[in-house]
Amino acid sequence: MRAGWFGLPVLLLATFPAHAADPGNGEILAKRWCTGCHVVSESQTKGTDIAPSFPAIASRPGFDEHKLAFFLLEPHPKMTNMALSRADTGDLAAYIAAQKHK
Ligand code: HEC
Repeated sequence: MRAGWFGLPVLLLATFPAHAADPGNGEILAKRWCTGCHVVSESQTKGTDIAPSFPAIASRPGFDEHKLAFFLLEPHPKMTNMALSRADTGDLAAYIAAQKHK
C-alpha cells in the first residue's frame, strides 16, 4: 500500500455524491471472486486461514465501509488484480459491512 494514497479517499468522498451501494451485487461479486481465499459469509463452511473472514473484518473495532471500498480499489498483496470498478468495491464493502457480528 502506497502511503501517498491515504489522503485521497477523503477528498473523493467529499467531491462525489455517494453511490447507492448494493449489497446484493456485492454478495454475487464476493462469491465469484473472493471465496478462493476468504470466508465471505457465516454460511460458507470451507475456506482458508490465509485471509481473514468477511464477518471478522466487519466486526473489527473501527471498521469503516467507505475506507474498505477504497482499500478494494487497490489490489491487496497476494491477491490477483481483479480490476473492480468503484461501484463494485462499494457494493462489496456494503456486503461485508452487513456481516458485522450482532
Ligand atoms: C488469492 C487470495 C485472495 C483473494 C482471491 C481475495 N483475497 Fe482478500 N486477502 C487475501 C489475503 C492473504 C489477505 C490478508 C492480508 C494480506 O496479506 O494482504 C487479504 C485481505 C483482505 C482484506 C483486508 C483485511 C484486513 O486485514 O484489513 C480485505 C478487505 C479483503 N481481503 C477483501 C477481499 C475481497 C472483497 C475479495 C474479492 C473481491 C478478496 N479479498 C479476494 C487474499 C485474497
